[in-house]
Amino acid sequence: MRWMVLLPVLLLLPGLQAQTPARSLGELKDFYAANCVKCHGPDGSAHMPDGKKLGGFDFTDAAKAAKETDAEMVKTIRKGILFGVVMPSFKDRLTDDDIQLLVKEVLRKAEKGKVIAP
Ligand code: HEC
Repeated sequence: MRWMVLLPVLLLLPGLQAQTPARSLGELKDFYAANCVKCHGPDGSAHMPDGKKLGGFDFTDAAKAAKETDAEMVKTIRKGILFGVVMPSFKDRLTDDDIQLLVKEVLRKAEKGKVIAP
């Protein structure tokens, strides 16, 4: 009769593994530094320290950022742009909670010239 106890446990295991723990704000900043800087710049302005403008969206441009809702930003980060050609999709690497926090606490608070993560 032991299998009756084991079976539900085995069925639950893959589900448990898929649930990656939520990242802290510091971890999300590191994630940004590793995955977003090459297009969005170290400070989120889409400019490299040498002033080179990249293709990304300027998060530090308050007027432009105000036109985007959090929901639109979250959606873009989940899905990417043009099937990942223009911007990769991050839905397999970040949970929805991670993405919400990233938008609210990292992207919305980006300031020109202030590096998001070392
Ligand atoms: C390969 C380059 C590239 C990478 C890597 C990249 N992005 Fe983007 N991202 C873009 C481009 C290009 C745009 C569109 C720019 C525009 O509309 O002005 C964009 C737009 C966005 C937008 C604005 C979406 C909207 O609603 O208009 C958000 C938010 C965003 N990126 C977040 C991120 C985050 C967070 C990461 C890292 C986890 C990331 N991006 C990585 C290129 C990139």
